[in-house]
Amino acid sequence: MAEKNIESVLHEDRLFPPAPEFSQAAHVKGAEHYEALYDEAKADPAAFWAKLAGTELDWFKEWDQVLDWQPPNAKWFVGGQMNITYNCLDRHLKTWRKNKAAIIWEGEPGDSCTLTYAQLHREVCQVANMLKGLGVGKGDRVAIYMPMVPEAAIAMLACARIGAPHSVVFGGFSAEALRDRLNDAQCKAVITADGGFRKDKVVPLKPQVDAAIADNAAPSVESVLVVERTKQGVTMESGRDHWWHELKKEASADCPPEPMDSEDMLFVLYTSGSTGKPKGVVHTTAGYNLYTHMTLKWAFDIQDTDVYWCTADVGWITGHSYIVYGPLSNGATTVMYEGAPRPSNPGCFWDVVEKYGVTIFYTAPTAIRAFIKMGDEHPNSRDLSSLRILGTVGEPINPEAWIWYHRVIGAEKCPIVDTWWQTETGGFMLTPLPGAIATKPGSATKPFPGIIADIVDAEGNPVGDNEGGYLVIKHPWPSMIRNVYGDSDRFRKTYWEGIPPKGDQHFYFAGDGARRDQDGYFWVMGRVDDVVNVSGHRLGTMEIESALVSHPAVAEAAVVSKPDEVKGEEIVAFVILEGSEPAGDELSATLKKHVGKEIGAIARPGEIRFTDALPKTRSGKIMRRLLRNLASGQDISGDTSTLEDRTVLDRLRASS
Ligand code: WTA
Repeated sequence: MAEKNIESVLHEDRLFPPAPEFSQAAHVKGAEHYEALYDEAKADPAAFWAKLAGTELDWFKEWDQVLDWQPPNAKWFVGGQMNITYNCLDRHLKTWRKNKAAIIWEGEPGDSCTLTYAQLHREVCQVANMLKGLGVGKGDRVAIYMPMVPEAAIAMLACARIGAPHSVVFGGFSAEALRDRLNDAQCKAVITADGGFRKDKVVPLKPQVDAAIADNAAPSVESVLVVERTKQGVTMESGRDHWWHELKKEASADCPPEPMDSEDMLFVLYTSGSTGKPKGVVHTTAGYNLYTHMTLKWAFDIQDTDVYWCTADVGWITGHSYIVYGPLSNGATTVMYEGAPRPSNPGCFWDVVEKYGVTIFYTAPTAIRAFIKMGDEHPNSRDLSSLRILGTVGEPINPEAWIWYHRVIGAEKCPIVDTWWQTETGGFMLTPLPGAIATKPGSATKPFPGIIADIVDAEGNPVGDNEGGYLVIKHPWPSMIRNVYGDSDRFRKTYWEGIPPKGDQHFYFAGDGARRDQDGYFWVMGRVDDVVNVSGHRLGTMEIESALVSHPAVAEAAVVSKPDEVKGEEIVAFVILEGSEPAGDELSATLKKHVGKEIGAIARPGEIRFTDALPKTRSGKIMRRLLRNLASGQDISGDTSTLEDRTVLDRLRASS
């Protein structure tokens, strides 16, 4: 399709309805079916979720109360007991799925393996016993800092098996970032690997763990369990560090699942916010299990014949909910891939689709845009005919990328499931159900049944069709964030006071701006706070500013983003220097590297601009909006009435 045609398609606001055969075979079979579910859930959310909890999950003990809602604290399935690994593993062993592929892993360079449900169950039980042997018990936090190998999923499940909440830290985070997370959650053990393969390089992991806990800097950590992956040679501290494969030799495969209360913590996962350090988002057991199970089942229409592949890393919520827990709870086959698209291997994703006959493929807009750049010849030369559903997540998808995905990858036959959600929501909130909701390029369409979403102004009043506002959720849902680890105050302030409650009505404030069109479709526009989204990764501008200021050459820094064709957004840092180091390319490179060391490569600014002043309001707040406009080359002369010192503008324009 030529560029021009794409434009005209967008202006038509074209609808892409599901094919009748598709709807017929789907779990949710059409608009009426969706509306019936939606209305049923809206009328009595507790009854709706209770029915599904009874039919879709196995329980050790039934709950006494479905929902205990004392804003902002929700408890679901109070009094119930279960273990998510029983639902993800044991119950499938009693069926023909026992020997079905649970995880298909495609590693680098050229490794691969398949674990059936029976094999995965065995491995999880062994590792669970290994953790017990290291003194880890129910309630102890365990950090997981791993490459994309099956052991990462096994480690998560092993923790859940014994009731030890996991805290997965993305393998691309630095030793400093890891240390902060270890200390915040007071982790007792770390599960890691010697290293991982990332974009044609060996990335060290164990050495980063060593650096994070050296000199007693993370005193809660008693033991480190190390998977041998890259064999590049690492130091092992006797008594503290243990090889996974060594302990496994002795580990029993008999480990009954720990009975967990519905509201026992399943995991903590750190995410960036607009203020301060990253927040530990707390998720609990039963509600999370139910919601990830149902959303995957209905939004990706999981069937037993599917080979489902989500390209995320287990270090993010997408990996938690939709590589590990959601798919396994459904008894699906989930693909894990260690590689990443890169110029040296531009067809790698399509090779995986072809090799395993992937039927459902879920990725991020930034990857789609990178593929558009790499050329259609790569997907076109692979057999992608197995695909039946495509998904996207992480940032708004621009309609041009949507159309390309639909046409080149989906051969115009695969519904595109654009899922809007967050670390805090645990699962999809706005999403098409592919057999039921006609899609519009760039819209995450409608709320999942049970989700009461709205768009409101700063006072919580609903806004009209097509008027922009704040995206809020008006009723608790089962996989809702329960707390910010160790900081209930921050939990309440961040999520429940962004829009103040109106009487009994409390608003979960997502931090995103959105509009709803005349057909009830939601269009998410992006963050309204100081959170940026680079390649689908969520980063706080203040975190990056603190990292910059921790360098001796920097006096002050302000971080904003500018639009980027592939990454969505790119980080631009305005920096005021102190001391005698000259501004220039060399210092710019040093500072970028420094941010990489403090946080991780994903947070490195794309551009550093040295300046001698920052625009501030009279109350001393940095005017980021103005900097954003400047960074993206827009005119900054208007609307500066609140600026404290107007000469700053000219000085900023001169910044390089
Ligand atoms: C953004 C990732 C538009 C949004 C699951 C949200 C999206 C943040 C979409 C959460 C989408 C995610 N359309 N924007 N389909 N999906 N976002 O916590 O700004 O890493 O608030 O969770 O990503 O990022 P997080």
